[in-house]
Amino acid sequence: MDNYAFPVLLLLVLLLCGYCSTQSGNSQDGLYHSGLACNETLMLQRLPICGQEFEDSMKKLDTKKWCNLTEFIMFYAYFSNCTEYEAINVGCFWPNPLAEGFITNIHRQFFSNCTLERVIWEDPPDEILITLILIPVFLTAAMISLVVWCSKRSDVLV
Ligand SMILES: *[C@@H]1O[C@H](CO)[C@@H](O)[C@H](O)[C@H]1NC(C)=O
Ligand SMILES: *[C@@H]1O[C@H](CO)[C@@H](O)[C@H](O)[C@H]1NC(C)=O
Ligand SMILES: *[C@@H]1O[C@H](CO)[C@@H](O)[C@H](O)[C@H]1NC(C)=O
Ligand SMILES: *[C@@H]1O[C@H](CO)[C@@H](O)[C@H](O)[C@H]1NC(C)=O
Repeated sequence: MDNYAFPVLLLLVLLLCGYCSTQSGNSQDGLYHSGLACNETLMLQRLPICGQEFEDSMKKLDTKKWCNLTEFIMFYAYFSNCTEYEAINVGCFWPNPLAEGFITNIHRQFFSNCTLERVIWEDPPDEILITLILIPVFLTAAMISLVVWCSKRSDVLV
């Protein structure tokens, strides 16, 4: 698969999975976790610690490698774990819409150039074009199956 489309696709799938677990979580206790009240203010104060850590790691990499998933997957895994840890630590569910907003901003900061470069400035080779055409098709199918799966899961939980 195309080197630049893949990380973007992966991040989208991660976000979709996050959305799905938030939805199934909501049917029970929403933003709340293990009886402790979720302090959203505190969570939004603590998440930038993770962002800073991720930024420091990424800055050690050549910016040309920022779209290469192999290069940054470890940093991203740490970042993801860090947001989970901080959110749960202040009694919030993870992922939750506020934390996702924060994570989306981080994606924008580091991965915003990952697809555009190729699509706009170069004449993409056939296999990239095919990938670009297939992504929305795949995502639509994935969305539908996730929604069906999520609603089945909530039915079971209720
Ligand atoms: C939530 O965290 C903020 C910032 O630390 C604090 O000022 C506030 O009192 C906390 N709220 C609750 C309900 O614990
Ligand atoms: C991405 O990084 C890996 C590991 O350093 C390297 O082997 C691979 O060639 C890189 N891919 C591109 C397209 O630069
Ligand atoms: C996730 O973070 C916590 C707290 O920093 C740490 O104890 C744990 O080992 C980490 N897990 C992974 C898989 O890195
Ligand atoms: C994206 O490209 C612009 C223009 O070349 C550059 O100023 C910006 O720093 C780049 N952002 C990232 C995240 O690489």
